[in-house]
Amino acid sequence: MDRRTLIRAAIEVLPRAYVPYSHFHVAAALLCSDGMVYTGINIENAAYTPTVCAERSAFIRAVNEGQRNFDAIVICGGQDGVIADYCPPCGVCRQVMREFCDPDSFRIILARSEEEYKEFTLKELLPMGFGPENLHV
Ligand code: THU
Repeated sequence: MDRRTLIRAAIEVLPRAYVPYSHFHVAAALLCSDGMVYTGINIENAAYTPTVCAERSAFIRAVNEGQRNFDAIVICGGQDGVIADYCPPCGVCRQVMREFCDPDSFRIILARSEEEYKEFTLKELLPMGFGPENLHV
């Protein structure tokens, strides 16, 4: 799947973000190795802590459907749903990616539009991360 299509999938769901507190909309589109795409949006909560980020929303949907292999994720967002800058993933979301994704090959694509994006490997954004293999001594 080309990057434009994946970016479009994320931008399309951005208005669905449930953000009554921060008004900061985030959307993600997660590309599985079999070509399936799962989108996610951030879902906030009056108690604040239960808030779920867009990236984790997407992973939760995909893993529930039996997906275990992932190639890339697009992330976009901005205040009041306006994409004004790149939206990097929070540390918790990077760690969730580390659970399922190969740090060297999994791509994190931060998009401002279909044409304007920055691409990183998970290893670049989470160097020397703690992963499942650390527990399998
Ligand atoms: N947020 C995400 O959805 N993903 C991130 O990686 C960064 C932060 C959300 C959480 C909260 O709803 C809003 O952005 C402001 O922090």
